[in-house]
Amino acid sequence: MRVMVVGGAGYIGAHVVRLLEERGDEVVVVDDLSYGSKDRIGSAELVQLDCADSSHYPELLGALEGVDAVIHFAARKQVGESVEKPAWYYQQNIGGLALVLEAMAEKGVKKMIFSSSAAVYGMPDAEIVPEDIEKHPINPYGETKLFGERMMAACERAHGLKWIGLRYFNVAGAGAPDLGDPAILNLVPMVFERIVAGKNPLIFGDDYPTPDGTCVRDYVHVQDLAVAHLEALEYMNRCEETGKDMEYHAFNVGTSTGNSVKEVIDMVAKVTGIPFTPEVSERRAGDPPRLIADSSRIREVMGFEPKYGLEETVRSAWEAWQVKPGKR
Ligand code: UFG
Repeated sequence: MRVMVVGGAGYIGAHVVRLLEERGDEVVVVDDLSYGSKDRIGSAELVQLDCADSSHYPELLGALEGVDAVIHFAARKQVGESVEKPAWYYQQNIGGLALVLEAMAEKGVKKMIFSSSAAVYGMPDAEIVPEDIEKHPINPYGETKLFGERMMAACERAHGLKWIGLRYFNVAGAGAPDLGDPAILNLVPMVFERIVAGKNPLIFGDDYPTPDGTCVRDYVHVQDLAVAHLEALEYMNRCEETGKDMEYHAFNVGTSTGNSVKEVIDMVAKVTGIPFTPEVSERRAGDPPRLIADSSRIREVMGFEPKYGLEETVRSAWEAWQVKPGKR
């Protein structure tokens, strides 16, 4: 297959690019390199453009020549920033996706895998979250992901787009030491950043209604998540070959198990061997106490099973940190 990976030079995208290349697909990466970097994509073809900039639309159309499927990662992903700059988040995330979908329609490219997020659920009223629960995102970031899914559903009705939205839970780790998360936005890299600077890690609140009082999340290894994208593509191809309609479009990607902030920080202590004492600070606004994926749908429909647990996730993140410490 020839696959266009939009945002393929970023953290998750680069893992998928590497897997596609390893299995012999032709890959064209479209990325503005605002966060991503060229040294993550090996020998894959790069078309450097900003998909959310309509003046780049002609080059986007050109990059779609001969493409069978698109995997769309390109998006802004800082929840707090999305609250401060909502219009810009809509322009970037929804505007970018809209131009990609428009270009796909113009070129007759029918298959799309989209990076969605557990942020579509907001504060779900369930211990373990199934895809069909009501969705009330609580910030513009989550809204852009939910509206992205709706936009693809509309394109399906209008001109037969085949699409899958993968709703990522808490992504961490590295599939190879040179593919670590370059951002310091999430728990694991934020803890690393503090402890290598000789500071204690911070726990944002320990009075939540959870077993140890700290928030519980479903941590999924980025390599497992990357594999889920390939399985989604194969599922789409299988449906096409057998003439079957896709029964579902949205799939949670998680492990169906939760770990508390304290458990993650304890794992960082074990893996790094660096001595520290976690400090409890204020709760962070907008944190649900618990967010765990019901991942039965992706398992049943695609046969997806995560291979890695928390220790491997944190260990791989730490190995990657040695190669290239995270930076925003
Ligand atoms: N946390 C700390 N200390 C830190 C950093 C984080 O206690 O130094 C806590 C947070 O308060 C939260 C947990 O660790 O309880 C996980 O926080 P992250 O920032 O790593 O992840 P979130 O669950 O807030 O957000 C993630 C993604 C978002 C996505 C969301 C979906 O980063 O992009 O899941 O629910 F929107």
